[in-house]
Amino acid sequence: MAVLVTGGAGYIGSHTCVELLNAGYDVVVADNLSNSSEVSLQRVEQITGKPVAFYRADVRDASKLDEIFERHDIRQVIHFAGFKAVGESVAKPLMYYRNNLDSTIGLCEAMLRHKVGELVFSSSATVYSPGNTMPLSETSSTGNCTHPYGWTKFMCEEIIMDVVRAHKGFSAALLRYFNPVGAHPSGLIGEDPSGIPNNLMPFISQTAVGRRKELSVFGDDYDTPDGTGVRDYLHVVDLAKGHVSAIRYLDDHDGVHIFNLGTGRGTSVLEMVRTFEKVNHVPVPYRITDRRPGDLATVYADPSKSNRELHWKTELDLEDMCCDSWNWQSSNPNGYES
Ligand code: NAD
Ligand code: UFG
Repeated sequence: MAVLVTGGAGYIGSHTCVELLNAGYDVVVADNLSNSSEVSLQRVEQITGKPVAFYRADVRDASKLDEIFERHDIRQVIHFAGFKAVGESVAKPLMYYRNNLDSTIGLCEAMLRHKVGELVFSSSATVYSPGNTMPLSETSSTGNCTHPYGWTKFMCEEIIMDVVRAHKGFSAALLRYFNPVGAHPSGLIGEDPSGIPNNLMPFISQTAVGRRKELSVFGDDYDTPDGTGVRDYLHVVDLAKGHVSAIRYLDDHDGVHIFNLGTGRGTSVLEMVRTFEKVNHVPVPYRITDRRPGDLATVYADPSKSNRELHWKTELDLEDMCCDSWNWQSSNPNGYES
């Protein structure tokens, strides 16, 4: 009995493969390596001592999916495959709609063809409308997304909800992640963004390791305790465990279920920088710059539904996130190419 993990060679996918294997599941990965390296899966095998069945496959390739479903006894699917860079989605909207929507539609079709009825989908806090009050709960309003990437997540949620309504026996968990950071404590797998990182933590760790001159802190005049942006960062290992909880949940819950995966705690940019410097004893040079267009002052989750229903709660704190990010970055200064 295996779990198919699309996009399993990527950042969150590889950490989830580790937790699935540790929990006793067999793992089959389909990834076209458009934003990842197969080395991550070799490292997953090294960490767990268990094999991963890997297919270099595009999830939009129906015949390849048929081959995978025919070869393995797949009961659940976790769908990570997709593009995720906000700025790139503004510049190349069709590439984002094409990949993220087609992969989700093609995957659901293949699941129906092969009578596989449990899907866990990687959604994002970006589906929430900008005007909500904090914390965001699963019933906060969604839509009015400010970029194509956000709309792809919103639309995929709608597509999956329609599939669940139409097809008896098909159930889904839509997991809305807040800000995943950190790396496996072994230092063997972690986030390996190509080019200049868009997100805070990889930028901090690449600055600390000397790949970037300084961090730009995007604005210090927000209505937050120190004026810098506040987000709900969660450790990627906690996030990965949330997926194991979700597939267990679907074993005895029909229908569609939406869960926030976050800590419920907000951290500012400067608090993150200071924690990183303190736990790792490395300087992170920074400069305050203008606000980044489209950024909100404060975003954090109400994770109480996940705590209650998935029996999932984050266990690792900000110091763990900073320590494990640095452990990964300093032992692999150029990511998987190191
Ligand atoms: P990632 O880029 O590291 O992983 C995505 C993986 O999907 C990559 O390995 C890539 O090669 C693969 N892929 C892309 N298109 C594919 C296709 N058509 N067929 C097969 N493989 C394909 O990203 P990640 O950070 O691990 O994110 C995983 C998922 O979680 C994504 O759907 C992302 O949108 C979502 N998400 C991420 C964050 C975050 O901050 N990292 C936040 C919210 C949601
Ligand atoms: N920041 C900086 N400097 C940087 C990068 C980020 O100061 O170089 C600040 C941002 O202004 C923000 C905070 O750090 O205040 C976090 O920024 P990230 O880009 O790491 O994360 P966001 O919350 O802006 O974006 C994340 C995901 C997106 C998703 C969005 C909304 O990366 O995919 O949440 O849910 F769309």
